[in-house]
Amino acid sequence: MLRVTPLLPLLLGLVASAARLPELRPSQEILEASAVRKDATVLILGGGVAGVTAARTLHEQGIDDFIIVEARGELGGRLMSHSFGAPDRKFTVELGANWVQGTQTGNGVENPIWALAKKHNVTTRPSNYLGSISTYDDSGAFDFLETFDASVKDFTRLVATAGLLTGGRVPKRLVDLTARGGYSLTGSRPESRHQMASEYYQFDWEFGTTPEDTSWLACSWAHNYTFDPASGGFSYENLLAIDQRGFKTLIQEEAREILKPNQLRLNSTVSAIERSRHGVKVTLTDGRVLRANYALCTFSLGVLQYNDVQFIPPLPAWKEEAIHSMSMGTYTKIFVQFPEKFWFDTEMALYADYERGRYPVWQSLDHPFLLPGSGILVVTVTGDFSKRIESLPDSYVQSEVMDVLEMMFPDVDVPEPTDFYFQRWHSDPLFRGSYSNWPAAFLSEHQGNLRANVDERLWFAGEATSRRYFGYLHGAYTEGAAIGLTLAECIRGRGCLGLEHIDRVQNARPYDVM
Ligand SMILES: Cc1cc2nc3c(=O)[nH]c(=O)nc-3n(C[C@H](O)[C@H](O)[C@H](O)COP(=O)(O)OP(=O)(O)OC[C@H]3O[C@@H](n4cnc5c(N)ncnc54)[C@H](O)[C@@H]3O)c2cc1C
Ligand SMILES: *[C@@H]1O[C@H](CO)[C@@H](O)[C@H](O)[C@H]1NC(C)=O
Ligand SMILES: *[C@@H]1O[C@H](CO)[C@@H](O)[C@H](O)[C@H]1NC(C)=O
Ligand SMILES: *[C@@H]1O[C@H](CO)[C@@H](O)[C@H](O)[C@H]1NC(C)=O
Repeated sequence: MLRVTPLLPLLLGLVASAARLPELRPSQEILEASAVRKDATVLILGGGVAGVTAARTLHEQGIDDFIIVEARGELGGRLMSHSFGAPDRKFTVELGANWVQGTQTGNGVENPIWALAKKHNVTTRPSNYLGSISTYDDSGAFDFLETFDASVKDFTRLVATAGLLTGGRVPKRLVDLTARGGYSLTGSRPESRHQMASEYYQFDWEFGTTPEDTSWLACSWAHNYTFDPASGGFSYENLLAIDQRGFKTLIQEEAREILKPNQLRLNSTVSAIERSRHGVKVTLTDGRVLRANYALCTFSLGVLQYNDVQFIPPLPAWKEEAIHSMSMGTYTKIFVQFPEKFWFDTEMALYADYERGRYPVWQSLDHPFLLPGSGILVVTVTGDFSKRIESLPDSYVQSEVMDVLEMMFPDVDVPEPTDFYFQRWHSDPLFRGSYSNWPAAFLSEHQGNLRANVDERLWFAGEATSRRYFGYLHGAYTEGAAIGLTLAECIRGRGCLGLEHIDRVQNARPYDVM
C-alpha cells in the first residue's frame, strides 16, 4: 500500500539539497526559527480513527512528543453515538459508522477494526441484510424478492466485469466509466420502481452516492478489497455494533491506553494551518496558537473541499486538484422510536417509491438479536435526498416518514413517534458528508496526490487517502498507521522527501479540443 519513494526523486532530492547548501548557513530566518518554542514535534489534527491510529503508531515508534487537536468534546469522529429514545426508554444508537465490514476468512487478512472490536469487547451481531428482508411499495407489503435477487446478481456482474472489455476474446483493461455505464453495458437497466429500489439497495446504500456519480473501477476495487477473499478482501461478513457504550469505544479505549492528558486538546477547532521550511503553526478559532515540526491533517475530504480550514500558503495546484477530484457521499440514518413494534420481523425492509431513493431502506433495531423492546426503526437515505432533508425542518421530515409508513402498513394505525432524530452530516463543517467516493474517471495519480505530503511539513491521512479501503473505518485505520509510520521514519531521519506526487496529472493523450 505504501508507495516507497523511488530512487530517482530521492537522488534528485539529494542533489537539490546539496545545491541549496550555501543557504543553510545560519541565516536570519534560521536563527529566528530556532528561537521559536515548539509545542510538540507533531500536531495530529483531528481525533477520529485515522488520528488516534497515527498517534498510537508514533507512540510504538518511540515518538511521544505529539498532540492530538480535536474540535469535538470527545475522540471518535465519524464513530459517533447518540443516546436516543423517550426519557425512560433510551438506547445508544450509531449516527455514523455502525458495521465492521468484512472480518476474516481462515488465516487471511483480518480487518483491523474487527481486531479492535474483539480487543475491547465491543458487542456486535452478524447482519443478514441480503437474506432477512421484507419488501413494500405504495400498496403495502408486496413481494418483489425475485427482482431483489436479480439486483444482487447484477451487482456481482458489475463488480466482476469492471476493467474488462466484454465481448473480446482476451479480457483487456478499459478506461474507466461510471458505474451506471457499467450497469448498462452489462445489461442491467432498471425501469420499474421495484427494480430501482433493488438496485439502490445494492449500490447507493453501500456507497452513499448513485451509480451515475461513481467510478465503475474504483467501486469494484473498494468492494473487492473489503469483501472478496479471492481479491485479498477480508470476508463477506458484516457485523453490526450494538454496544451500549457506543461503537466509538474501540478507538477511545485505544487512545486511553497511550495518551497522557497533555497529548490531547479537545474542544479545539483549527482555523488555519501555516507551513514554512522550519515547521508548522496551527491557529485555533479561539486565537490559541500551536507550533510544531510537522502537522498531520486527518480532516475529512469534505472539510478540505469546503475551505473550512485555511492553508497558508495556499495548497499547491496538484493538491487542490486532487482534493476536488474525489467526492463525498452522504448517508443519513433517520431514527424513529414508537411505543411498540408494529412492523416486519425481518432485520431489513425495502420500500419501492416511484421516486428512486425516497425513504427506501428500513432497518428494525427492535429485533431479537439487536435491541429487542427498543421500538426503534431506522430509515436510511443517501446522496441528494440526504441534502434535501438536511435543509428541511425535522417536523417536515418526520411527517414524510410517517406518510411512507402509512403506505407500507395500510392496516395499521401508525402511532405517534416517541422520539425522532437524524444527523446532518453534509452541512456539518466538521465533516461535510459521510464518506468519500471516486467519481468516474478514476485516475490513480489523483489518488496518489490526495495522499501525498505537501512540502516536508504537512501530511495527510484519513479514509479518503486509502487506495483500497476509501470510505471505510479500516481505510482510516490503515492510513493512520501507514502515514504515522512514514512520518516516524522522517522524524528519525531528521527530514525526508516523503511520498511521491505528480505535478501535472494528464490523460494518456491530451484532449483535442476542436
Ligand atoms: C453515516 C455514516 C455511516 C458509516 N458507516 C460505516 C460502516 O458501517 N462501516 C465502516 O467501516 N465505515 C463507515 N463509515 C465511514 C467511517 O465512519 C469513516 O471512514 C471513518 O470514521 C473516518 O475516520 P477519519 O479519521 O478518516 O475521519 P473523521 O472520523 O472525520 O476524523 C476527523 C476528525 O477531525 C475533526 N475535525 C474536523 N474539522 C476540524 C477542525 N477544523 N478542527 C479540529 N478538528 C476538526 C472531526 O471532528 C473528526 O473527529 C460511515 C460514516 C458515516 C458518516
Ligand atoms: C468540551 O466542551 C463541552 C461542552 O461545552 C464540555 O462539556 C466539556 O467538558 C469540554 N471538554 C474539555 C476537555 O474541555
Ligand atoms: C464482554 O462483554 C460482555 C457483554 O457485553 C460481558 O458479558 C463480558 O463480561 C465482557 N467481557 C470482558 C472480558 O470484559
Ligand atoms: C473483483 O473480484 C471479482 C471476483 O473475484 C473479479 O472477477 C473481478 O475481476 C474483481 N474486480 C476488479 C476490478 O479487480
